Amino acid sequence: MRATVTAHRDYRIATIDNRLYGAFLEHLGRAIYSGIYEPDHPTADANGMRRDVIELVRELKVPIVRYPGGNFVSAYNWEDGIGPRGQRPTRLDLAWHTSESNAVGVHEFAEWCEAAGAEMMLAINLGSRGLDEARNFVEYVNGPTGSYWGDLRKTNGRAEPFGVKHWCLGNEMDGPWQVGHKTAHEYGRLANEVAKTLRAFDSSLELIVCGSSNSDMKTYPEWERVVLEHCYEAVDHISLHMYFANRAKNAAEYLALNAKLDAYIGAIASTIDFVRAMKRSRKRVTISFDEWNVWYHSNVEDREILGGAKGWPHAPRLLEDIYNFEDVLQVGCILNTFIRRADVVRIACIAQLVNVIAPIMTEPKGAAWRQTTYYPYYFASRYGRGEALQLGVKSPGYDAEVADNVPYLDVSGVYDEEGGTLTFFAVNRHGEKSIDLEASLQGFGEARIVDHQAMTSASLEAANSPKNPKTVTPAKGTGASVKDGLLTATLPPYSYQMLRLSLAAR
Ligand code: AHR
Repeated sequence: MRATVTAHRDYRIATIDNRLYGAFLEHLGRAIYSGIYEPDHPTADANGMRRDVIELVRELKVPIVRYPGGNFVSAYNWEDGIGPRGQRPTRLDLAWHTSESNAVGVHEFAEWCEAAGAEMMLAINLGSRGLDEARNFVEYVNGPTGSYWGDLRKTNGRAEPFGVKHWCLGNEMDGPWQVGHKTAHEYGRLANEVAKTLRAFDSSLELIVCGSSNSDMKTYPEWERVVLEHCYEAVDHISLHMYFANRAKNAAEYLALNAKLDAYIGAIASTIDFVRAMKRSRKRVTISFDEWNVWYHSNVEDREILGGAKGWPHAPRLLEDIYNFEDVLQVGCILNTFIRRADVVRIACIAQLVNVIAPIMTEPKGAAWRQTTYYPYYFASRYGRGEALQLGVKSPGYDAEVADNVPYLDVSGVYDEEGGTLTFFAVNRHGEKSIDLEASLQGFGEARIVDHQAMTSASLEAANSPKNPKTVTPAKGTGASVKDGLLTATLPPYSYQMLRLSLAAR
């Protein structure tokens, strides 16, 4: 099967925002406790944080991490997580039916982010709480000493403000499962008032308002229209979430799902434009896709624990999806979609980062290991920075439930002008046929392949585990070449590849 790509140096979509490769950590299951924090672990640093995990996060170059939830945040008291550890209360977490020790709070998370080289993105509880707690939290985190909250932060060991720029105004407020769920009008009005108040403290904050929890919600996309009509001028981004599942064990349908993601982004981009036009506004709100990932492998086990019969365990094994090779292809396609929509998606967070539907897994007292999906995330985050290219793609396709003519070749291209590189991320969705790829490189001058990574597997079900952490890993790709401005490569059936070219200085 043949597919062609045309890449032109001047045909660009947008500069990719580094925050596109962000992640999410929630007080859920073992994400925090025995995930990032385990004071008894042999690699623990002075703050009780696992250095083995920090190293993997640094390897991924995660730019920003959203915290502390998720559904958890909608009944969370941020004050429980500050002050001497011994005096912090244990609370019942209503979102996940667990106990929260509060051993980790905003100070510990800030230290972890610093060690991991990531920026913090904090979520505010607008479920069980409201405006006053929101402004107190922001003042505590960012306010100057010499004021009540700044001085309290100093007493708790940190005189310098944390300087957190990104604030999420609640989480999935459209969801009936959310503590403090609201109608679009109730939430839009509250979000506007909170945003106005936070801006009175610091107008440079980047504020993220909740959009739909997924595009199957009954209120989607009317929710976005109503909410944005309330707060368009006061916020910067609207948050979207989407999780991917292959419950019917149908690879073709599963791997077509990023067409649904693309349509979701397109619909909300249009809704933003609609409200912008209605408001006669010059401002451009953009999308923060701050929860995305594959999530379904652990559903059966989770239902047993979440049934509530087991009381209120602390840090149980929840949402511990073990990813397989098929999910590598899915994550590759999702990241390609974000790169192709870099004009409107400015922030995206893989949900989540450690243990809970995560690329990084840990064993208590044991090793940290990479899931299969770690790798497409790794390649995109490290090498997918620069300008997203508007590629001309011609590929045979197939009809799926979510879209017609889904191309077998899913590809994105990134041009790093300063670094002099051109990188393609390509997925072959066909299970039996190879793709003979021909990419015409126009206006880039001389190019040579400097890195070619390929992921293939005899089984879509192949997965890594603590005992066999290297079953699914990338290998050096072979057979690709560039001649007279034409890049040729063969993409085996069901494969993921990264092709990275170095460009001669122009
Ligand atoms: O990431 C797991 C959960 O998924 C989050 O808590 C919630 O926001 C979403 O429904």
